[in-house]
Amino acid sequence: MILVTGATGTVGRPLVRALRDRGATVRALVRDAGSVPAEWDDGVEAVVADLNDAGSLVPAADGIDAVYLLTPVDPDAARQARHVIDAAAKAGRPRVVLQAAIGVGRRTSPVRFFAAHAAALDHVKAAGLPWTVLAPNGFQQNFLGSAASLRAGTLALPAGAAAVSYVDARDVGEAAAEVLTTEGHEGAIHELTGPEALTHEEIAGFIGAALGREVVYRDRTPDQARTALLDTGLDAWRASGLVELHGMYAAGEAAAVTDGIPRLLGRPARSLTALLTEHAAALRATPTTTQERPA
Ligand SMILES: NC(=O)c1ccc[n+]([C@@H]2O[C@H](COP(=O)([O-])OP(=O)(O)OC[C@H]3O[C@@H](n4cnc5c(N)ncnc54)[C@H](OP(=O)(O)O)[C@@H]3O)[C@@H](O)[C@H]2O)c1
Repeated sequence: MILVTGATGTVGRPLVRALRDRGATVRALVRDAGSVPAEWDDGVEAVVADLNDAGSLVPAADGIDAVYLLTPVDPDAARQARHVIDAAAKAGRPRVVLQAAIGVGRRTSPVRFFAAHAAALDHVKAAGLPWTVLAPNGFQQNFLGSAASLRAGTLALPAGAAAVSYVDARDVGEAAAEVLTTEGHEGAIHELTGPEALTHEEIAGFIGAALGREVVYRDRTPDQARTALLDTGLDAWRASGLVELHGMYAAGEAAAVTDGIPRLLGRPARSLTALLTEHAAALRATPTTTQERPA
């Protein structure tokens, strides 16, 4: 039995799908019984629990052989991860596959979102559970959430001129399914990227091609970006975190292309251009909201 946290999210959904395709028995954690996706079949046992409620995680972890530990981008993520790890340790000695982010094994990250990943890894080690880390780069899907400003012809980010090897979140989910259902990953940190590193100017060009109009990349200063994010209604913690993340990109620290996806999945990583082509119609569609986040 494999417990998946974050099962209804960007990585969780393709992960649950990939585990079912492999015939694995899945327990998918949801906050609310009403949010169970229609695509989940009888092989997916939905369990209602809250990462903030340690007590609710004990029955969720009962009898599991492995857990995919994905926490949301949240100031309480380190505490949430601890709750899951403690519940897993009570259940026996399940494998913990932790979703972190690129660079987790290399150094202390300047990005606040990533502090929870490092703390979670320390806690898993202290608990004596077998562990593996997936460390994906930024998700290509982040660009799909910026449709309104892209349609207006601008990709504005504080990312400088550096290239980033964004990864398709579906590849991350499928790689996670491989790690959860095969042996030989204990103590490994799999860094997962897309097939190429692209500058945001190049990305703007690809988005423009998908939209059928010119899209220009505008490099923003950290202050400009933070102000723009706060203006969308984003809270200060997340706005500052996104600025830090793009500062890491601008420093060229997310440009490496790894063989993580081809090695785990035996095929090339999905490209950003393929994702944009797939979503071209939706990107062109009339906006239903003006609120958006930078990638
Ligand atoms: N976005 C990126 O580019 C990127 C890149 C590398 C790493 N990461 C890391 O990936 C993780 C986010 O993954 P994602 O993008 O797949 O997540 P996501 O799409 O934001 O989904 C978050 C998931 O967590 C669940 N959740 C939130 N709060 C919860 C709570 N209190 N109790 C139980 N479940 C809760 C959500 O459930 P509901 O459906 O109920 O909301 C949802 O299933 C973060 O750790 C982030 O640092 C992100």
